[in-house]
Amino acid sequence: MAEELTPETPEETTEEQAIKQRKNGLYPGVSDELAENMKSGWADTELRDLAPIAQADKTAARRAALSARFPGERLVIPAGNLKTRSNDTEYAFRASTEYAYLTGDQTQDGVLVLEPARAGGHEATIYLLPRSDRENGEFWLDGQGELWVGRRHSLTEAEQLLGVPAKDVRELAAQLKEATGPVRAVRGHDAGIEAALTDKVTAERDEELRVYLSEARLIKDDFEVAELRKACEATARGFEDVVKVLDKAEATSERYIEGTFFLRARVEGNDIGYGSICAAGPHATTLHWVRNDGDVRSGDLLLLDAGVETNELYTADITRTLPINGRYTELQRKIYDAVYEAQEAGIAAVKPGAAYRDFHDAAQRVLAEKLVEWGLVEGPVERVLELGLQRRWTLHGTGHMLGMDVHDCAAARTEAYVDTTLAPGMCLTVEPGLYFQADDLTVPEEYRGIGVRIEDDILVTEDGNVNLSDALPRRSEEVEAWMAGLKG
Ligand code: GLY
Ligand code: MN
Ligand code: MN
Repeated sequence: MAEELTPETPEETTEEQAIKQRKNGLYPGVSDELAENMKSGWADTELRDLAPIAQADKTAARRAALSARFPGERLVIPAGNLKTRSNDTEYAFRASTEYAYLTGDQTQDGVLVLEPARAGGHEATIYLLPRSDRENGEFWLDGQGELWVGRRHSLTEAEQLLGVPAKDVRELAAQLKEATGPVRAVRGHDAGIEAALTDKVTAERDEELRVYLSEARLIKDDFEVAELRKACEATARGFEDVVKVLDKAEATSERYIEGTFFLRARVEGNDIGYGSICAAGPHATTLHWVRNDGDVRSGDLLLLDAGVETNELYTADITRTLPINGRYTELQRKIYDAVYEAQEAGIAAVKPGAAYRDFHDAAQRVLAEKLVEWGLVEGPVERVLELGLQRRWTLHGTGHMLGMDVHDCAAARTEAYVDTTLAPGMCLTVEPGLYFQADDLTVPEEYRGIGVRIEDDILVTEDGNVNLSDALPRRSEEVEAWMAGLKG
């Protein structure tokens, strides 16, 4: 009987189970003999003596720091659940940054719990879905059974890999409901876990946990720096891929560029770290142009802002503004070189002990000077900067922290981020731009529809900085030479 074969999920009615099976393309009505047959005849595939993941010592240190910050409190950090895209198809899963940072794991539905220990500190446990049960048919009758979606690690395997005891996540909600004592949770990823905690947590206390985890990521450890390097190197190869197919993009659309970069991201990494901005011609003046459905025309510029996210979830965030036919026009070059000069000034201001705001101010000053020099805004430069008049064309801040999130550490307090001083291990983007909208009547007609941004990923070191994305040229003439070399 089908009813006997469905997984033991007491909260589901038989009808709900039948619906789930239909959605999965299965139909109730499995014979007893088939059900019995499917239970046995399977090899033991348990993996033994697994080595810990490469960052196991780092994740342990991150959990220890978290434990020290919230003594005596139960801390709950979910990976998140699948999100429905349409009917019974889901978006690709991406574990929450907080969970991946603290565990090195990326399993959907996983939850890290730090339980206060009697002797002080915390005991960490990772709650995961175990291997599919063959006795009750889950492995082939449930849409998330291993036969449908692939083998999972057993809890024992997960313990060896992650260096944390692992338990069955299906028991966690009930345990949390019963638990006493103070609790904090990272919100927004797992509605089931949040429901179990609803009368135990407060928004204010949970926010303190989120802020802590954001600020903890301000300084990258050496594992993280290596991942960011990897992300930048893969991204540079993705930009080369794009240059090589610009003729195909001209024959089709910006989508050809998006797809080409995405191929590199999926082959070398986990994904793109954010929606690729493949902005040709006047689309370059739209800061987050991700529709990418426009024409690619010789004589125009292509603003490509894209980043590969590594398999450990660290992303690059790089922009180059390229002449589609390989050579900048005189005006394009004038604007490009101004942005380059601003970026140089910005990068030079990135060093330990400098104020976070310095690189922005340095870049803005150069851009304001250029705008005054070109007669687009009335000087003097000090007046322009004081009133922020350059911002009609510079539009956005000059950079942000970079890491597992493209706009990393976003929940950090102002005093820990924009009002702080730079320290070794911070990684940030420096990305000035000038954007002349197609309908901006305050600039000469020839400027309209030109947008330029140059963005690099800069690591603060003990004695200055390192440009992690310097595999890609930035000077206008070097960009042209690089493109000519790639097009052969
Ligand atoms: N790609 C988004 C940004 O540069 O901040
Ligand atoms: Mn950026
Ligand atoms: Mn960017």
